[in-house]
Amino acid sequence: MVARYGSAMAAPPTSTDATVAIETRALTKRFGGILALDGLTMGVPRGETFGFLGPNGAGKTTAVKLLLGLVPPSGGEARLLGRSIGDRETRRRVGYLPEHFRYQGWLSGREVLALHCELAGLPRASWAAEIDRALAIVGLDGRGDDRVAGYSKGMQQRLGVAVALLGRPELVFLDEPTSALDPVGRAEMREIIRDLRAGGTTVFLNSHLLTEVEQVCDRVAIVDRGRVVVIGTLDALLAEGPVRVRVSGLGETELAALAAFGSIEREDDGLVVRGLDRERVPALVAELVRLGGRIFAVEVHHQTLEDRFRELVERHP
Ligand SMILES: Nc1ncnc2c1ncn2[C@@H]1O[C@H](COP(=O)(O)OP(=O)(O)OP(=O)(O)O)[C@@H](O)[C@H]1O
Ligand SMILES: [Mg+2]
Repeated sequence: MVARYGSAMAAPPTSTDATVAIETRALTKRFGGILALDGLTMGVPRGETFGFLGPNGAGKTTAVKLLLGLVPPSGGEARLLGRSIGDRETRRRVGYLPEHFRYQGWLSGREVLALHCELAGLPRASWAAEIDRALAIVGLDGRGDDRVAGYSKGMQQRLGVAVALLGRPELVFLDEPTSALDPVGRAEMREIIRDLRAGGTTVFLNSHLLTEVEQVCDRVAIVDRGRVVVIGTLDALLAEGPVRVRVSGLGETELAALAAFGSIEREDDGLVVRGLDRERVPALVAELVRLGGRIFAVEVHHQTLEDRFRELVERHP
């Protein structure tokens, strides 16, 4: 289902529901005069890979920082894994790859990970195994003893992901995890995310790289200027591409009778119908025939996420 912001569908599940990883209600953040997040209401079930998409400055990073309790909200509320945001116990169960991070260059990758094992309060006896595991997942095994100063940007980003995965979190926030990666690295990151999903981990993925999101996410929200413009499964979001019908023999009266199917535009050799549920294409064809139309072709266009994104998000300075 696609739920538009403000509709009943946008209401998140109740906080007592153990199947819910993230839920927010009217979560709002102002920085002085800037409304960075404008009443975010949504729910992410456990086990889902959720894409949070939007142009630069849309409020994606702000949302993650609020959810992690790093920045206090100006209004609204949110719960992670059933507990209020900022709860210390919950933080242990959550992993986070920040958007901008820099590790101490003089430390080795392994030392950075050990530091974070300590910060996360993991039992010391488990560190070595946790670190080996995290390095292997992100493909840095073999480079763990090298100094971070000698890492490429992509390697540093992998190290950031490794840090986020220490302690096997139930919920992982990845803020632009592929921004420094080459195409091979991006494909590997998609594999990592798929593996996390297969292991039952909930992944909240911030990105403006639509193809990345399109390939791994179960559901996405598109945000713009602090507001969710649309939220739903990719299938539902993309199902609304236009349907073109090459048809003759229809006058204005007949066209007016089709309004219930969606917005109808006339083209040289037929019609374009927008906003039509795929399930209703046969009904549209039957109605055109009933109205006396002669149909030569019906083309169901599949939108890419990029088309949809551009349609929903206006360019602004
Ligand atoms: N600490 C801050 N102080 C003042 N304004 C802030 C602060 N953090 C964010 N903002 C503003 O809030 C808005 C949303 O920023 P945010 O970083 O959440 O966007 P984003 O969607 O993550 O963008 P990007 O894709 O560029 O990472 C922007 O207008 C930004 O300038
Ligand atoms: Mg950001």
